[in-house]
Amino acid sequence: MALRNIILSDNEIIRKKSKAVSQFDAPLWQLLDDMYDTMVQNNGCGIAAVQVGVLKRVVIVEANGLKLELINPEIIAKKGKQVGMEGCLSVKNTNGKVERPYEITVKAFDRYGNAMTLTVCDFTAVAVCHELDHLDGILFIDKIVE
Ligand code: CO
Repeated sequence: MALRNIILSDNEIIRKKSKAVSQFDAPLWQLLDDMYDTMVQNNGCGIAAVQVGVLKRVVIVEANGLKLELINPEIIAKKGKQVGMEGCLSVKNTNGKVERPYEITVKAFDRYGNAMTLTVCDFTAVAVCHELDHLDGILFIDKIVE
């Protein structure tokens, strides 16, 4: 188990756009394992690589008993709307309501480079949208509706 430091929102790295992963190799698996340990240690339900200072399009979400590792993820379909409370490991002591799609279909790769397409809804969709925003330097505080 290896913990990495969480990058906070006052660090300019958090606003940078992450780059696509091209190598599905041991350093990527180490990054994923470290991100997961760091997320769990900090009681998070999602984490993006940029949050540990790595500008790669890699996210982990764990919600409703489902652990997702998404590499180079892309939302290819959205349905409905929901507004829910969000927080972020990189934004201390702040929560706010954000509008997200109710259901999304995501195309991504797993840690071995296998392509997958999955549809998630409800809180899992919120968590995936939140983490995908991180890959483009967007924080939930940019989208708070109340
Ligand atoms: Co976040």
